[in-house]
Amino acid sequence: MDTSFIRWYEAIAKRRSYRTYDKSKILEPEKIEALNNVCKEFKPFPGVRATPVTEPREDVFKFIAGSYGVISGAPAFIAFIGDKNNPNVNEYAGYIGEGIILEATALGLGSCWVAAAFSAGKTADIIEMNDNERLMAVTPLGYAVQNTSIKDKVMTGFGRTHKRLSVEKLVTGLSYEQSPEWIKDAIEAARLAPSAVNRQPWGFNIEEDGITVFVRSSGTDFNISYRLDCGIAMLHIEVAALNAGIRGKWEFLESPGVARFRVV
Ligand SMILES: Cc1cc2nc3c(=O)[nH]c(=O)nc-3n(C[C@H](O)[C@H](O)[C@H](O)COP(=O)(O)O)c2cc1C
Repeated sequence: MDTSFIRWYEAIAKRRSYRTYDKSKILEPEKIEALNNVCKEFKPFPGVRATPVTEPREDVFKFIAGSYGVISGAPAFIAFIGDKNNPNVNEYAGYIGEGIILEATALGLGSCWVAAAFSAGKTADIIEMNDNERLMAVTPLGYAVQNTSIKDKVMTGFGRTHKRLSVEKLVTGLSYEQSPEWIKDAIEAARLAPSAVNRQPWGFNIEEDGITVFVRSSGTDFNISYRLDCGIAMLHIEVAALNAGIRGKWEFLESPGVARFRVV
């Protein structure tokens, strides 16, 4: 990953999911250009593309009663589309999508991963897709109305959806306390990653020369792959490592392993 992405490190702490946007504030041309560029350029893995749509399309965000996700007022969205035949498409989509979401955060925009409460049919009417492609998730983009409405408070469980599990619950392997600073930074950044219904399905095994991400728990499934969440955590690990001056490489693993980040 390019060192220019270090600026995403700050965005990790700032990012949170926003579901209500100010309809009257459209995106400035320079922000649209920056988003187009990151979607075009941030392609560290094959088989996933991100397509921005810079017009309001409320119809894409449908509300499923009894489920979650009311998104309103967004002037733009990005669709994350994956190759059905790529065995690592979920972790790739999480990793790439989160890079783009952190770029949006750095640009001062609100976002929200949406992999359940959206209409794949409506999105496919707007974006052309090949037979081998699958719509993995979308994110609204725009200027968020701070989550003060009762609807938002309910959707975020009155703050519960932002709570994260403790490091002790997530870490195995070598001692976290005695780990080098970059490992602690990377695990702290991964802990802050968003996951579907905040299920935080990841675990992190600390090793001599790196960190292995694995699926630790099942939790609520919602038909969204745990490996997609883990791909998001991977991006956070690598950004934090780069910020600490550490470069590494990912090696993908069989389930329940996801990928091992090894210092190079
Ligand atoms: C893969 C994925 C899918 C998600 N799907 C939805 C969704 O369909 N609707 C929704 O409102 N939020 C969705 N979310 C947002 C999560 O609920 C949110 O990230 C989590 O509760 C943590 O809160 P935070 O993002 O504010 O830190 C999704 C998040 C991820 C990572």
